[in-house]
Amino acid sequence: MSTVLVLNGPNLGRLGSREPDVYGSANLADLQELLVASAREGVSIDLRQTDDEAELIHWLYEAVDERMPVILNPAAFTHYSYALRDAAALVTKAGLMLIEVHISNPHARETFRHTSVVSAIATGVIAGLGFDSYRLALDFVTAP
Ligand code: DQA
Repeated sequence: MSTVLVLNGPNLGRLGSREPDVYGSANLADLQELLVASAREGVSIDLRQTDDEAELIHWLYEAVDERMPVILNPAAFTHYSYALRDAAALVTKAGLMLIEVHISNPHARETFRHTSVVSAIATGVIAGLGFDSYRLALDFVTAP
């Protein structure tokens, strides 16, 4: 059984009630259900959310140590956290996949969201497709 870490940054714990016009009305439990239902046989989903930058960084260390691919929605950390970027770089430098995902399309929103400090070290980026951003990332990182 291989495990994919699905890591979510600040305020994503409020999905469902947070700006439904932008993020939709489904919550993280719905995302978990979607990913489990669409995972390939033998793939388990470890979905986590934190508002704490240090915790997110430590989960990326865990991905390196346990050799797990990562689907990462860094949320607002996307736009300014060099500490998170450096930890995410450890994952891809270790030869593991890390896909940066976003529910909304940050490029179609406020200017400060147009910059991602994570994208340059990510394996790839999927944005603007709602929860399908995660589903497509899962399909990619677990492709045979
Ligand atoms: C987000 C986009 C970010 O700009 C924002 O800060 C989030 C969510 C997304 O999934 O669309 O919290 O990462």
